[in-house]
Amino acid sequence: MTTFRIAPSILSADFARLGEEVRNVVASGADIIHFDVMDNHYVPNLTIGPLVCQAIRPHVQVPIDVHLMVKPVDRLIPDFAKAGANIITFHPEASEHIDRSLQLIRDNGCKAGLVFNPGTPLHFLDHVMDKIDMILIMSVNPGFGGQSFIPEALKKIALARRKIDESGRDILLEVDGGIKIDNIAAAAAAGADTFVAGSAIFGQPDYKAVIDAMRAQLAK
Ligand code: DX5
Ligand code: ZN
Repeated sequence: MTTFRIAPSILSADFARLGEEVRNVVASGADIIHFDVMDNHYVPNLTIGPLVCQAIRPHVQVPIDVHLMVKPVDRLIPDFAKAGANIITFHPEASEHIDRSLQLIRDNGCKAGLVFNPGTPLHFLDHVMDKIDMILIMSVNPGFGGQSFIPEALKKIALARRKIDESGRDILLEVDGGIKIDNIAAAAAAGADTFVAGSAIFGQPDYKAVIDAMRAQLAK
């Protein structure tokens, strides 16, 4: 049976009360904290870095999943590992040497993954599958929370699921962007097991109610 994981994106949290926000969302059932790093270069927005990761680390026991939307990639990897990241993913177009970046993440003691934009093909996985612990399929173009789910992502999730099954390896398949109570089941049916949700969770007053409703959809 598949283990499903809910990974709230703190991009939509109240940054003035971030410690309290991450504690609340974990107490409400979050399995992972999704941490969106944007550099105003690879994506047209600017968010948070290793200092903020280090600041929230003592507040939560669950894994912190750092989604790097930065170019270049490599120099931030050791900093995030030191700041307490457990999983680090990056976009293959943003790295000059994909294999080296994946190895660097693992050498720093974290799980490693690649992120695929809506228009990015999965063939970047072909020669590095043995260094991958997570595949992240973007169901919006990266840069902002609160965008609408792009349905074409379902086909790519299914394709990624086949590649994971063929590899025989234990690789998480995460979907990120526009995930809500009413489309999480479709993403799971396509093969996703880990679900990022920012605005759907932090946009509501009762985080537990949203996470419970998402799990109820996954249990159907
Ligand atoms: C977008 C980020 C997402 C985003 C998700 O570039 O990678 O993690 O915060 O937010 P929602 O769930 O609001 O689409
Ligand atoms: Zn993200």
